[in-house]
Amino acid sequence: MIEFFINGQPVQAEDNQTVMQAARSHGYFIPYFCWHPRLSVPGNCRICMVEVTNEGQPEGSGWLDIACNMPISKGMRVLTDSEKVRARRKETLQFITLNHPVDCGICDKAGECTLQDYHYEYNGSASISRDAKVHATKHYPLSRRIVLDNERCILCTRCVRFTHEVSKTHALGVQHRGDHSLIRPVEDGAFENDPYSDNVIDLCPVGALLSRPFLHKARVWYLKATPSVCPGCERGCSIHIWHRKDEWRLKALDPVQNARIDRVTPLENPAINGPWICNKGRDLAQVFERARAEQPMRKGKVTDLMSALSAARDLIWAAKRPVAMVSSWASNEELAAFHAALGSRFACFVKADVQPAPGEVLEDELLIRPDKNPNSAAAHALFAPLPPDARSAFPPGCDLVLVWGEGFSFAQLPPQARIIFLNSWLQPENGHADVFLPISVMTERSGHFTNFQGVVNAFEACFAKPPGVADAEVLFAALAQSAQAEVAT
Ligand code: SF4
Ligand code: SF4
Ligand code: FES
Repeated sequence: MIEFFINGQPVQAEDNQTVMQAARSHGYFIPYFCWHPRLSVPGNCRICMVEVTNEGQPEGSGWLDIACNMPISKGMRVLTDSEKVRARRKETLQFITLNHPVDCGICDKAGECTLQDYHYEYNGSASISRDAKVHATKHYPLSRRIVLDNERCILCTRCVRFTHEVSKTHALGVQHRGDHSLIRPVEDGAFENDPYSDNVIDLCPVGALLSRPFLHKARVWYLKATPSVCPGCERGCSIHIWHRKDEWRLKALDPVQNARIDRVTPLENPAINGPWICNKGRDLAQVFERARAEQPMRKGKVTDLMSALSAARDLIWAAKRPVAMVSSWASNEELAAFHAALGSRFACFVKADVQPAPGEVLEDELLIRPDKNPNSAAAHALFAPLPPDARSAFPPGCDLVLVWGEGFSFAQLPPQARIIFLNSWLQPENGHADVFLPISVMTERSGHFTNFQGVVNAFEACFAKPPGVADAEVLFAALAQSAQAEVAT
């Protein structure tokens, strides 16, 4: 360990730490654009300037240097917010915004842009330049998912380094020199096919890299970020699901927007995904905004929940050889509830609710896992896996099958068996079941998943359940009772 001083206070740091790392680990703030804890250090933005004086040198003899690339040394004295430092940061911001359009009013990054924040903290003045701004491409189509505004780009190269160092597609670079420099993709389409490309949107410290699905959809201060878990594969990355705040609910315009997933971003979790997620995790709206099943049915005829439950209960307790297909998208709590309520009544098998889509990346060395279901690990800890030939799971004389969740073809069911189906989506199979019970999805309830490494991760509810839909956990408790029971929907 080395002792040095930040703003006059003694600080202990590791031998190989930089001033930026040591300062952050002791709670001192130093601004940065190009630096990122998971990327290499280019030292190009110069906003992290601090005043440094070596041991033994007199006060006032210090020099300005960048904290992100300055190794600490014994007795070194660092000032993070001196007059000299603040004056240099102001000059740096004047330089960085020389050709910047300052179009914050129409920029999706407004509200979470470090350039805005630092401008107010360290600059606060209009540009002193009398030269005309150098214009650049305003909406460059970087990929099907991302639009690049070159005028807002401050050339920090975080996006470029991400593709070289993290996703390893080497898909972005800097073209030309000086104030004609432009971020551009390589021509072989590698950026288009980079399954982690959207991380550059979060990495960009300004509003240069913009998500197409989110483009001009909402100001970020109208949105709330609910902690959740991506169900796209057994990694179970921590995410934030962004949706409209209650106090900003739309009344007259488009009420659908009040219960919509506006965007998904990574929630940093060192035990699972670090600060990254793959693009599939960003597209959860496509999963959760499919048409929902909202009405219980008996043999395809709409009924009320109590009568559907009563019919299901009769089937369960009359069956001689019942089998259950357990969902690998169920939460730990739901699996435990099913196990406790009905686990001994059924021969239980865990099915894969979702198979890899055609063309989807099956597996890689960063995050993506081959099992596209979030809670296979917890389900397999309680129940047997479904054999590759699903038909072999049904014993001779199997007279009832409870199917929980999607992904199981009814063509595989024994012809004589009655069917209880619990599902969230509007599907033709719903009408073929003897009893159909609509259930909530994970964005409507809280719970936990256990990922393939055994790490338990929590998700919270974002939206209310549709009327007529119940939590599977509640239904299992009701189905286990032989008498009629009240069920909250
Ligand atoms: S696009 Fe954003 S992340 Fe990339 S170099 Fe420009 S400012 Fe940095
Ligand atoms: S790696 Fe898996 S869990 Fe993580 S964001 Fe991608 S699909 Fe979701
Ligand atoms: S953060 Fe240090 S030079 Fe950019």
